[in-house]
Amino acid sequence: MYRSIIRGIGSHLPQNRLTNADIEKMVDTSDAWITSRTGISERRIASPGEATSNFATEAAKKAMDQAGISAEDIEMVIVATETPDYLFPPVAVIVQHRLGLNKAGVMDIHATCAGFITALQTADQYIRSGMYQNILVIGADTLSRFTDYTDRSTCILFADGAGALVVSRSETEDIGIIHTATHANGEHVQSLLIPSGGSLDPFNPSKEQKTTMYMDGPKIFKLAVSVMSETAKEVLDKSGYSVDQVNFLIPHQANQRIIDAVAKNMDVPQEKVISNIKYVGNNSSATIPIAIDANMKAGKIKKGDTLLLVAFGAGLIWGGALIKI
Ligand SMILES: CC(C)(COP(=O)(O)OP(=O)(O)OC[C@H]1O[C@@H](n2cnc3c(N)ncnc32)[C@H](O)[C@@H]1OP(=O)(O)O)[C@@H](O)C(=O)NCCC(=O)NCCS
Repeated sequence: MYRSIIRGIGSHLPQNRLTNADIEKMVDTSDAWITSRTGISERRIASPGEATSNFATEAAKKAMDQAGISAEDIEMVIVATETPDYLFPPVAVIVQHRLGLNKAGVMDIHATCAGFITALQTADQYIRSGMYQNILVIGADTLSRFTDYTDRSTCILFADGAGALVVSRSETEDIGIIHTATHANGEHVQSLLIPSGGSLDPFNPSKEQKTTMYMDGPKIFKLAVSVMSETAKEVLDKSGYSVDQVNFLIPHQANQRIIDAVAKNMDVPQEKVISNIKYVGNNSSATIPIAIDANMKAGKIKKGDTLLLVAFGAGLIWGGALIKI
């Protein structure tokens, strides 16, 4: 039986910083409100000319360098994103070309902020089945392009960036991806969406349209806490692990109060919860791989640690994974 291991990891954030002080100049808000209600102090956002493929490519390069893998050994590129450069073709084909991954197949996975978990699960299945040996899994988003900077309930949260993993085949049983789970409930589609600009209501400059996100924040908040807590428990149960055997809980970085509530429901002490939302914000599919990479570089997460990942996003779509990194 094959196992999927994380052979390399990398991440990339845009240079451009958007601080709470900058947002105070745009909408009626304050640094104190944003910090206390979200935990975010600043976020990184794309400069003109930058897009999701730029961040994805930079993160992937670093993951491949760390893995010490050559371009011809990558067989599949999976990019989790809800903000592709174009409606088509996918971001993955742009990354594939830029990195010269000429032998690799490509796909984008659009599962909103649960995209990274869904991509990891997909890669794991390709590897467990024996079909592929080395897959590039990238979570990358540019939410700033779909954020209304006159809407104080959303512009405080969202950000841009990418994180990438090289996921490879191993025959050793006690490391790598232990279990993954994904779920969805389309009942909540209207609670968080970009209403226009898709095939239902294509962009039309002569019409009044909303091509930035609409969000029912309090509703999403409650759903997020409940589905992430349930899924974290499910993943542990199905893996036969107890919460004490987990070194770190890494929830999707949506709001510090959501992270804290999930940790409390799971009885995970604060020192075992990874959060880097303060300086990064919510960059959707990218939050979890960026958090893993940053905390491994800082020496907090170590090789061999067991990580419980949980995410949720618009749809509602949610999922979790238990991995020994
Ligand atoms: C958006 C969010 C931060 C709002 O925080 P909240 O504590 O739920 O606040 P509410 O929406 O209940 O609003 C409370 C008050 O603060 C106000 N408010 C909202 N945003 C504000 C801001 N940026 N600055 C100051 N006041 C603000 C509201 O207008 C409201 O005022 P009122 O009581 O006079 O009507 C929070 O709901 C959230 O994070 N939701 C989850 C969003 C999420 O995770 N989305 C990503 C999915 S991947």
